Amino acid sequence: DGWLRYAPLSCSQQCKSKLPANVVALNATETSPVYVAGTELQQGLKSIYGKKIGISHNKCKSSSSAVVVGTLEQYRKTCGAVKDVPDLEEDGFWIDTRNNNIRILGSNERGVLYGTFEYLSMLAQGNFSEVAYATNPAAPIRWVNQWDDMDGRIERGYGGPSIFFKNGAIVDDLTRVKQYARLLASVRVNAIVINNVNADATLLTPTNIKGIARIADVFRPYGIQVGVSLNFASPQTFGGLDTYDPLDASVINWWSNITDQIYDEVPDMAGYLIKASSEGQPGPETYNRTLADGANLFAHALEPHGGIVMFRAFVYNQLNESDWDADRANAAVDFFKELDGKFEENVVVQIKYGPIDFQVREPPSPLFANLFNTSTAIELQVTQEYLGQQSHLFYLPPLWKTIFDFDLRVDGKPSLVRDVYSGKRFNRKLGGSTAVVNVGTNTTWLGSHLAMLAWNPTDDSEGMLQDWIRLTFGLDKAVLNTITKMSMESWPAYENYSGNLGIQTLTDILYTHFGPNPASQDNNGWGQWTRADHTSIGMDRTVSNGTGFSGQYPSEVAAMYEKIETTPDNLLLWFHHVDYTHRLHSGKTVIQHFYDAHYDGADTAQTFLTQWESLQSKIDKERYEHVLRRFEYQAGHSIVWRDAIVDFYHNLSGIADTSKRVDNH
Ligand code: GCU
Repeated sequence: DGWLRYAPLSCSQQCKSKLPANVVALNATETSPVYVAGTELQQGLKSIYGKKIGISHNKCKSSSSAVVVGTLEQYRKTCGAVKDVPDLEEDGFWIDTRNNNIRILGSNERGVLYGTFEYLSMLAQGNFSEVAYATNPAAPIRWVNQWDDMDGRIERGYGGPSIFFKNGAIVDDLTRVKQYARLLASVRVNAIVINNVNADATLLTPTNIKGIARIADVFRPYGIQVGVSLNFASPQTFGGLDTYDPLDASVINWWSNITDQIYDEVPDMAGYLIKASSEGQPGPETYNRTLADGANLFAHALEPHGGIVMFRAFVYNQLNESDWDADRANAAVDFFKELDGKFEENVVVQIKYGPIDFQVREPPSPLFANLFNTSTAIELQVTQEYLGQQSHLFYLPPLWKTIFDFDLRVDGKPSLVRDVYSGKRFNRKLGGSTAVVNVGTNTTWLGSHLAMLAWNPTDDSEGMLQDWIRLTFGLDKAVLNTITKMSMESWPAYENYSGNLGIQTLTDILYTHFGPNPASQDNNGWGQWTRADHTSIGMDRTVSNGTGFSGQYPSEVAAMYEKIETTPDNLLLWFHHVDYTHRLHSGKTVIQHFYDAHYDGADTAQTFLTQWESLQSKIDKERYEHVLRRFEYQAGHSIVWRDAIVDFYHNLSGIADTSKRVDNH
C-alpha cells in the first residue's frame, strides 16, 4: 500500500467529533473515480480511526456530518449553488472542511478523486484543520513510463519483474496493477505507458491488444489512461510490409488500422510513446525522412481518436571521440531545433531533464529554450539507474527542483523550465512531465522502502517528503526528523562520492550503470566523456574554444556558462576543461575538491546507517531490516566508490592529497 497504508491512529474526543458520519459520493457508477473516492473514504476512515461509515449516491446529504464528494456540476444539480469556489481547471478540485461540512468537489471525476486523496492524507496524519481551497494541476500531462519488456523483464528496473507482462503476453492476475493505480492516482498521475521505449512489435497482436484493454479497465476507475510504446519498424517486422517509411501510403494505412483496432478495445487510450532513430532503434532517418515526419505519422493516426504522441528527444548517434568538437550534449537541439513548428498539434516532444542521460548533476536541456511552437514534456527518472539503483538512498525531488526552477531567460524574460514544459511560457495547450518509474512485483514496488514517487514541481521538497514519511512510517518525531535529514543529505552525498563538479556520475557507462568506473567514460563513441588526462579534466563546451554547447542556451544563460568565472563550481567540468590545479570559487583546487568531496560523501553515507539504527524500536521489523541491509551496503559501497575515484585521479594526476588520506588508505 505504500503511503496509502492508512495506519491506525488514536482518536481523541475532539477528533471523533470531526469524523464524518457518512459519505455521499454523488452520482457514482461502479467504475467511476467518484465511486472509488467513496470507497477509499470508507476504507480510510475504518482503517485509520476504526470508524465504519455508510455510503450513498443520490441524495445531497443524509446527515449533518457527511463528507460529500462529486463533480461541481453534479453538486450544483443535486445540492444547489455553492459559494466560494473559484474557477477550476481540468482535473482541479475544491476542498472545504469547515464547520464539519466537508465537501470535495472536482472540475471532473478525476479532480474528485485527487481531492479525496488529499483529504485522506490529512486524516492519516491526524490533521483536522479547517481548510477551504482550490487546487489545479501544474500541467495537463502527468504521465509515468514503465520500461517493461514483454518477457516480464524491466529495463533498468530494480524492483523485480513486471506487473504487466510475462512470457510475451499480458498477465492474467492484475491485482498489483490495481494497487499501483491507487498509488498513482493519489499523486495525480493521469496516464501510464506500460511497455519499454525499446519497444517490441508483438505488443500489437490481437490477444495482446485485448490484454491492454484489460489493463486499461483496471486503471480507468482511477482516472488513469493507458498508453503504449511502439516500435517504428513494426509495419515491416510485424506487419509484413516491405517498408516502414513514414511517408509511404501502405505504412500510413497500416498504422491507422492498428490504431483503430486499439481504440476499438481501449476507447480512451492516451496515446503513443515513440523512441526512434536512437541507440540502434529504427526510425524515419532510415528513409531520409525527418523526425517530424516520423512523429506526425502517429499523430495523424491518433488524431481522430483524440490521442497524443509523446515523441522522445533522446536521439543521438555514436560519436568519434577523437573529434574535440563532437558533443553528445548538442544532439537534441541539433536534431529538433529546425523542426520547431513542423509537428502536428497532438505531438509532444518528451525531453530528458539534462542533455546527456539522467546524471547526478546536469544543466537543464537547452532544448526547452529552443522550441516555441512545439509542445514539450520533461522526462524524469524515478528508477535510480545511474544513481545507485535503489541500493543507495537518493531523494530525487531536490535534484529535479534545480531543473524545474532554472530560469532559461528566453528573450531576456523569465522562462522557468517548469513554465516552459507546462505550456505556460509559450502558450501551448499541451505539456507536462513524465517519469520513468519501473515498479515491479517486489513488495517495496521500486526495490527499497525509501524510494518513493512524488509529484508537483512547485511543492516544497521537504514538506512533500514529510507528508510521505508520516503516511508511510507514522507520526513519531524522531522517525520524521531522521528520515528527513537522511533524505535531504542523500543527493549531495551521492554526488560527492560518485562524480563532482559536473563531471557526471562516474559509474560504469558501458553496461551496468552501477558502481565506480571512471575509466569507462572516455575512449568510446557513447559520448559521456570527461576528457581527463594527466594534467587536466572536463569537457570544453564553450563557443569560443569548445563544442559550442553553451551557445545553445539563450544569451544570458549562454554568457554565464561560457566563462569559467561565472560558471557555478558544481557544473565547472561540464562546461570547461581545466587543470587539476585550477582554483574553484570555493578556493580549493579541482583535485583537492575531488578528494575532499569523496571523503565527505562516504562519511555521510556511514551516518545513514547509524541514523537508521537509532530508529530500530520505532519501525516494524520487516521494513527496518530491509532498509538496514541497504544502508549497510551503501556504507560499504560508498567507500568502494570513494577509493576507486580518488585512486583513479590520484594515479592519473600524480597530485598528492593535502590531507594525506589518498596515499595512505
Ligand atoms: C539510457 C538507458 C537505456 C534506455 C535509454 C533511453 O541510455 O540506459 O536503458 O533505453 O536511456 O532512455 O531510451
